[in-house]
Amino acid sequence: MSRSPKAAWLAALVLAVLTTCLPAQAQVSRLQGIGRTATPAELKAWDIDVRPDFKGLPPGQGSVRRGEQLWEAQCASCHGTFGESNDVFTPLVGYTSKQDMESGHVANLRLGANAPTRTSLMKVSQLSTLWDYIYRAMPWTAPKTLSPDDVYALTAYLLNLGGVLPDDFTLSDRNMREVQSRLPNRNGMTTRHGLWPGIELGGHLRPDVQGSACMRNCLPGAVGTVASALPDYARNAHGNLAEQSRALGPTRGANTLPTPAGAAASPVVAAAAGAAPAASAAAAESLRAAQLMPVLQKNVCVACHAMSDKLVGPAFQEIAAKYKGRADAETYLMAKIRQGGQGVWGAIPMPAQSIGEADARRVAQWLAQGARP
Ligand code: HEC
Ligand code: HEC
Repeated sequence: MSRSPKAAWLAALVLAVLTTCLPAQAQVSRLQGIGRTATPAELKAWDIDVRPDFKGLPPGQGSVRRGEQLWEAQCASCHGTFGESNDVFTPLVGYTSKQDMESGHVANLRLGANAPTRTSLMKVSQLSTLWDYIYRAMPWTAPKTLSPDDVYALTAYLLNLGGVLPDDFTLSDRNMREVQSRLPNRNGMTTRHGLWPGIELGGHLRPDVQGSACMRNCLPGAVGTVASALPDYARNAHGNLAEQSRALGPTRGANTLPTPAGAAASPVVAAAAGAAPAASAAAAESLRAAQLMPVLQKNVCVACHAMSDKLVGPAFQEIAAKYKGRADAETYLMAKIRQGGQGVWGAIPMPAQSIGEADARRVAQWLAQGARP
């Protein structure tokens, strides 16, 4: 049988189509079997945000009294018994008045740089934000562990501390909207300012999110630059954040010590990355930080302690200096590490640590020997 020209032409066309489509097909099959569609339950677990119109608010309720109990057990250690906070954290409550609740504008915010401080309650304009933040982010060390009822209770307690809700109040999904209408700064939301340091325009910091790109006569830096900066006064407030490790994993980011260029080899980094202890007999006898670092990281001590800077707790070197020469230093420190304590270094307590006995002993030994880097 002879092939007709028509059939040959058709065969060529089929071949051409096949060759053009093949790479795409190969790609599809390469991705096949990877991933799957998220299940409704998985989507639900992630979709927990609450919007300003209270869309997403789960049903539930919690009283001021219940909130007080939860607060004292889970929040007061960092934010203070009355939300006034301590040496480290900014206060959550305070500096709002009855007049503010009537006007919906917090008068103290107008003091600008002269304001004593800016508490959460001074700034927040949507009750949903406060609720949602606590639900998603707190307590800091165990986010997403609070039930909706817990969060209603805690929000109610904070508002009670701020004089917004009476002692016998029960906050629920049904009265959130009504309580929103009592929020001191509910009318104080502004969107016409930019974030510091920002770009000044007509005496105001230009907002950096306006949704329209500058096409001509643009101010320097107005197009395509997204950057953040740390003012000098904010540096070293809590040591070098880039070196610290939180319960949820390492903190990444800029070196926050005062002189970023010269501070690359600060004690903790130097110790962690440092060479194996020197082969001298003396070095073999006393522990070095490099040997302890895995223990300190595994037990999350480094979330609150650094080598030479005070964080939430005292620096390891400060602790070593304080107990230098004390005969029972090792026993004392070991007990304190496991049991926690308060008042030796300030008002912030150290919670009891679930560190194993052998690990606690090594850390105590290292501290008692002078916390060598
Ligand atoms: C281990 C310390 C710690 C504990 C415990 C803790 N928090 Fe916080 N909280 C923080 C830190 C740190 C921030 C600031 C986080 C940030 O800015 O990224 C914060 C921020 C907040 C804020 C927002 C403040 C603002 O104005 O931005 C609220 C509200 C809050 N916490 C409520 C709670 C509640 C309620 C609990 C108890 C369930 C709690 N926190 C437990 C450390 C803690
Ligand atoms: C949530 C923060 C936090 C964590 C986590 C933490 N500490 Fe502390 N630590 C503190 C605070 C705050 C103090 C000061 C307490 C005081 O003033 O009595 C402190 C004090 C200490 C002291 C000195 C006690 C004294 O009486 O002088 C030692 C030693 C110590 N911590 C070791 C550790 C070790 C080891 C770990 C990890 C197993 C650890 N800490 C975890 C916050 C913390």
